[in-house]
Amino acid sequence: MKTIWELLPAYVGGTTDSVVYNAGEGLNDSRHIENPNECSFFRDGEAMTEAAFLERVTSVFRAHKPAHHFRGPNNTVRVALFENNRIIVPSLVDGKVKLTFLDEYTGEEHNVCTAGVVHNTSAKAFKEYLALLASCGFTKLYENEMEENLFAELQKDGVLVECSYYPAEHRARFIADVVSVPVTEFGYMAGNGKNEIYSFSLFHGPMDSGFTCDCGMCYLMKLADNSLLMVDGGELEQITEASTTALWKLMHDITGTPAGGTIRLNWFCTHAHDDHADMFSHMLRTHHDEIALERVFFNYPCPDYCYIAPQLYIMISRVRKYYPNVKYRKIHTGDEFTLGNATFTVLQTHDAGLGSVEDGHFHGMNDTSTMLKISFDGVSFTFLGDLDDSAESLILSHYSAATLKTDGVQGAHHLFNFLNKIYEILDPDFCIVPQNEICRVNNNSKKYQQIVKAVPEENILFDDMGSYGWREENGKLVQFYHEKPIGTVYDGTEL
Ligand SMILES: [Fe+2]
Repeated sequence: MKTIWELLPAYVGGTTDSVVYNAGEGLNDSRHIENPNECSFFRDGEAMTEAAFLERVTSVFRAHKPAHHFRGPNNTVRVALFENNRIIVPSLVDGKVKLTFLDEYTGEEHNVCTAGVVHNTSAKAFKEYLALLASCGFTKLYENEMEENLFAELQKDGVLVECSYYPAEHRARFIADVVSVPVTEFGYMAGNGKNEIYSFSLFHGPMDSGFTCDCGMCYLMKLADNSLLMVDGGELEQITEASTTALWKLMHDITGTPAGGTIRLNWFCTHAHDDHADMFSHMLRTHHDEIALERVFFNYPCPDYCYIAPQLYIMISRVRKYYPNVKYRKIHTGDEFTLGNATFTVLQTHDAGLGSVEDGHFHGMNDTSTMLKISFDGVSFTFLGDLDDSAESLILSHYSAATLKTDGVQGAHHLFNFLNKIYEILDPDFCIVPQNEICRVNNNSKKYQQIVKAVPEENILFDDMGSYGWREENGKLVQFYHEKPIGTVYDGTEL
């Protein structure tokens, strides 16, 4: 596969970066694992007592306290281990070890997206270069302009070329996207119902790995045509019988789908951390025969730049297995498309950092979070994912309040980080924080106060206050639904 500068002619009117960046692989899995079915801790079929099994688990990865383990039917006992970029579940059945790999590793070679950056250029040179591409046989499929930031998508020989220019940086970027459907083919217009947005209450506890989790987020949106969008999903430890039953019921209730009926679903993921994907993966395994998954969109960075949680490969293998024809888009900064009658504006993905942040790309996965604004019925809601301060600086260098102003916002990164400016510029009426309210008390702190600067305290909501729903009323995004919080300490439900 040709890299970006092997596909494109030389850029005129700027300084081309010598680095060809890896921009990620989308819904592909390009891991290369030497011995993919080996586990150095246990052998498949190994005979041992339960005491020896648990002792080894304890010695392997949690020597300072007893290992967390879960019992299944017929007196089996199991744990979960990370090794080799895979998730291995050794269980002890009738005195013998059985190894299960949760992800499906195929070892297939997949194409990755490559990116090139041009420094010290101008809007004029960028536009002239797009004209040059057109004269070389590239077809322009899409263009967009947001506050003088310029975006375009071109296509030639089946390869999409994502082009962007930011005047504040005097920098242009070009990405060969070999994994997506074009942005113009990704969206659709249908329906005249009102859009609704929901935050689903997840259980958060003081971090005790294997039993509780202090992060995770799960949102739903009912679109105008009564299909659903799920945003992210909770961490494994938040997937309990109570929470999955409640979420599945909510999805039926808000769409009026009878038990056993099919739910049309789209999925957007902010970034490649497991607390943002596990609930979705679980739902695919348990309910794929009742879910029509139509679209998936996310933009994860190259796994060499940022560690992608192995759980994400479980999600990828399940999407590919159950929905081989799903429409996938590795959304890019500047994308704008419609689902139902709601407009989705991609304000930033990790590729906006290529060539500009330290060492040419983000190193922390949280900073690679996609910032997505959804506009519907005259109002808007913005997702920040787990965005951190480097990404915040980049966003604020590209956009003003004219673009960023929003009616509702998801508080970034479970309120773990410091975003100094963005909430005031977003100027939302309310903020939902995917975290427990205890943050309000314990974080009598700069973290919580960052949001208080922009939002009245009574309009800052936390997951342990329950699930909420909002829709437009009289030009405002108004809460119309509330359900008490659901959830318990992890009960051993399998991913
Ligand atoms: Fe998170």
